[in-house]
Amino acid sequence: MSIDYKAEIERLKKKLPVTVVGHYYQRDEVFEMADITGDSLELARKCKADINPWVVFCGVGFMGQSVKVIAPEKRVLMPKIACCAMARMIDGSYFDDSVNYMVERGIAKEDILPITYINSDATVKAKVGEMGGMVCTSSNAYKIIEKGLESGKKILFVPDRCLGQNFANSMGLKSCVIGEGECDPKEADVICFNGFCSVHQLFTLDDIEFYREKYPDIKIAVHPECDPKIVEAADFAGSTSQLIKYVNDLDPEQKVAIGTEYNLVNRMRQGNTYVLSATKPECPTMNETTLEDLYLTLKSIEDEKPINEIVVDEHTVKYANLALERMLAIN
Ligand code: 13P
Ligand code: SF4
Repeated sequence: MSIDYKAEIERLKKKLPVTVVGHYYQRDEVFEMADITGDSLELARKCKADINPWVVFCGVGFMGQSVKVIAPEKRVLMPKIACCAMARMIDGSYFDDSVNYMVERGIAKEDILPITYINSDATVKAKVGEMGGMVCTSSNAYKIIEKGLESGKKILFVPDRCLGQNFANSMGLKSCVIGEGECDPKEADVICFNGFCSVHQLFTLDDIEFYREKYPDIKIAVHPECDPKIVEAADFAGSTSQLIKYVNDLDPEQKVAIGTEYNLVNRMRQGNTYVLSATKPECPTMNETTLEDLYLTLKSIEDEKPINEIVVDEHTVKYANLALERMLAIN
């Protein structure tokens, strides 16, 4: 007999002291089961405030890890420990190399303030925390960089070169990318690691041109993980929650093309909303989690044999927590 996953998930959620969390990029059927939804910042905040001792996080690895770091007393399980491809581009040793790159070019280590996008492993966040730095998300990067600049230090921004450059541009700051052309840390305010999101690199100027030609009054709204050329050509750039708000606030007749992950765009208002790409911009890791995975994870709590638990060592929790809490304090 086949299992009715939805009914079973509802039963388990009622029975167990558990909160199911879902990022907007999750498949619809998984997303519908979530008690808490939001962009990365909202998810971190809401999970911290939530009272249930168990969290089942439907998203990518750094998201579940971040909950464990800001609320170490919670038991955090992930139906799939799927790793964001951008987060995998940097580890502790690449982070050290980036610091050394700046030191070798005349910037003292004490004069570097690292900021890591939340899409990074907890070990990278811990290195950032140890150096007095902070985490940021796509919804608060402006504020965090602004705060960082108050220290008078050079900002080392990891791992997303696009986010780093986009916010530097919007603040009128000079930025450069390590490994891309001449990147002299003495000449730049924000020095970016060369990481990126392959999903958000799918959106091109040709896509924007196509829509602008077809519908001259169309609005283009994109995520700041897109290339700076795309963000510059768009009408709006913002986090997933900010994109949802932007679209909801538009006149229903206003056409809009969105440059972010497919599952979210597909769930936005129907009619006059387009995906800003000829190819389907799916995040493979976000799409890994299925309803069956969610059911099995909840069932493992009921059976007292929890699976896929997020474990972060004490040292990492301590320093990654510093970096995350500095961010939360600024918000
Ligand atoms: P948000 O914080 O905007 O939800 O972004 C997360 C992400 O991974 C975007 O690719
Ligand atoms: Fe990571 Fe890109 Fe997927 Fe977001 S869309 S989780 S940045 S790979």
